Amino acid sequence: MKHKITLIPGDGIGPEVTSATQRLLEAAGADIEWDVVEAGANVLKIHGTTLPDQVLDSIKRTKVALKGPITTPVGEGFTSVNVTLRKQLNLFANVRPISSKYGISSKYLDVDMVIVRENTEDVYSGLEQDIAPGVAQTLKIITTVASDRIARFAFEYAKRENRKTVHAVHKANIMKKSDGLFLKSCRQIAKEFPGIEYREVIVDNCAMQMVMRPEQFDVLVLTNLYGDIISDLGAGLVGGLGLVPGANYGENLAVFEAVHGSAPDIAGKNIANPLAVMLSAEQMMRYLGEDHVANHMKHAIIVLLTEKQYLTPDMGGKATTTELTDALIREIVH
Ligand code: NAI
Repeated sequence: MKHKITLIPGDGIGPEVTSATQRLLEAAGADIEWDVVEAGANVLKIHGTTLPDQVLDSIKRTKVALKGPITTPVGEGFTSVNVTLRKQLNLFANVRPISSKYGISSKYLDVDMVIVRENTEDVYSGLEQDIAPGVAQTLKIITTVASDRIARFAFEYAKRENRKTVHAVHKANIMKKSDGLFLKSCRQIAKEFPGIEYREVIVDNCAMQMVMRPEQFDVLVLTNLYGDIISDLGAGLVGGLGLVPGANYGENLAVFEAVHGSAPDIAGKNIANPLAVMLSAEQMMRYLGEDHVANHMKHAIIVLLTEKQYLTPDMGGKATTTELTDALIREIVH
């Protein structure tokens, strides 16, 4: 079946890793008509905005997008395209599977957890102000509606994927109101899923436990900021950002993207690791019911990582993005 899918190439290494992913999808037999739309710093001059209407219109139309990373300037400049996109499309759940099963440059061999991050509120509300010289304020917004929704998503995900435990990660000992509200939702929703063990962990302890004993974690549900930080920590456990895929789900649409950013330090050098975007695309094909395409992609990636011949520098190899992609395609078509 032919699928119409929005593609946002993104900034920095984005175009390199998304075009590599397009090649792999094609080789794996995906029948896709791409609607390519641009967002980010590159289009600001042409469209006067980093997120032109046609990007949102395209995703609303196709209901599925593959997205490269988009740069957000630190401290000043435009607001994050990623945050705006997630809010505008109500992509409330960010799912990031973190697994060491590929055994690449990782000290940990038994990590298999899934981060479920709330994507629409918390300190990403954008509500910030200078309240006096030298004093700035950011508002942290937590609502029952969004907390119930993400908690239910996490438990339903755990049930569907035969997972055993959901950990709610919080700091309700300090933020008794906001994180307290999140925790209340998690406790309430947990009661609807008696087959899944429910646990709670304070975020700082969670960070330490992930480094000391990551195998104890299965599904983690977190508010926006903790989810952001803890998923990068998780990526570090399993060989780095080049290997961790992600998906953002709304009520009836989904945007697939890697956890990593635009990596300006290596952009344009043809050495970026495209596997995180490829694994995100693999999830996308499963979401679209194209399991046979996803299986081809997954198999080729596992062979590549097992043989270790065509790895990019972040995985300890010397291959370019193109060489790695060529090797994957050879594996599929041989
Ligand atoms: P980053 O993820 O871009 O890079 C962190 C480190 O990981 C760098 O050393 C980079 O070279 C390396 N790295 C990342 N992806 C890699 C890959 N595929 N292959 C090999 N090495 C890789 O994080 P950073 O530097 O904090 O952010 C850069 C920009 O990306 C910022 O403007 C940030 O706002 C944006 N960003 C965008 C995201 C998105 O669009 N979803 C997510 C995270 C950051």
